Amino acid sequence: MKPTVASFPAARLRRARQSPAVRGLVRENTLSVEDLIWPIFVRSGDGVEEPVSSMPGVMRRSVDKTVEAAREAADLGIPAICLFPYTGLDERTADCAGAWNPENHTNRAIRAIKSAVPEIAIMTDVALDTYNINGHDGFVVNGEIVNDQTVEALVKMAVAQAEAGADIIGPSDMMDGRIGAIRSALEHGGHHNVMILSYAAKYASAFYGPFRDAVGASAALIGDKKTYQMDPANSNEALRLIERDLTEGADMVMVKPGLPYLDICQRVKETFGAPTFAYQVSGEYAMIRAAQHNGWIDGDRVMLESLMAFKRAGCDGILTYFAPDVARMLNR
Ligand code: PBG
Repeated sequence: MKPTVASFPAARLRRARQSPAVRGLVRENTLSVEDLIWPIFVRSGDGVEEPVSSMPGVMRRSVDKTVEAAREAADLGIPAICLFPYTGLDERTADCAGAWNPENHTNRAIRAIKSAVPEIAIMTDVALDTYNINGHDGFVVNGEIVNDQTVEALVKMAVAQAEAGADIIGPSDMMDGRIGAIRSALEHGGHHNVMILSYAAKYASAFYGPFRDAVGASAALIGDKKTYQMDPANSNEALRLIERDLTEGADMVMVKPGLPYLDICQRVKETFGAPTFAYQVSGEYAMIRAAQHNGWIDGDRVMLESLMAFKRAGCDGILTYFAPDVARMLNR
């Protein structure tokens, strides 16, 4: 649709910007607490809240503290949280068996949150990197990240999360065929209502650096993830991946990272009209926090502006470490 504009002075576009009241009337997009998913890092122990140094303000929490965080999120009106386990090198193995252990950090946290904070939706992460001795999202055989064998493990991981009570399964691994395989296992296991939010267009990005510290993967990771995550130069490929995952049964799709990939968000939403999410990843968070702490930017305003940009691009929601801070601002 081409905008129609009269000629000056009939058209003075500044008229629509003259006061807060008028600006409010013509505002095209809104950011609400309901758009937010808060990623939380879960670790072992009891009563533990350990700061992540490369992500100021972000903690690794033991299960009891994770429950408290979920309570806080629900009270702020945040509809969903996303759980990521922190695992030390001693908790990682070559067979990645921790990933589908019903007693792993994620699954214990899911059960505890479900009983204490039943109203919040719980999203999980499906990928082997947090349990893998070498930090990769899949099994490594003779230097290759093998696809089909990894998908079998991801299915077990997803089913264990669904059995623990997860509402939204988030495969972030970028293997081929995993959405269809997970969907069919969930259906056969009676988990008809468990949703899948596919990290469908996930790029091999340097913006994940602080996250890999947060989950303990930095020390473990050998090599890079370029044989499974996308080339930052590509755009059409993102549409093919999204279409493929929707066809396999993804309920929602994600573009990741966020702000540097808004063009992808917009194309995805316009092309498919499916529920579309973006992940404002750890590196994006760290950059804004660092500039804020140096007094170089107004952190609160930049936070809100960056999240509004996702809404303008067409996203239905955003995974962001800023979620509780932003919720407090929006609730004021
Ligand atoms: C791994 C995973 C990553 C993130 C979410 N899930 C990192 C990676 O792919 O190496 C990154 C999130 C962030 O940077 O905030 N399966």
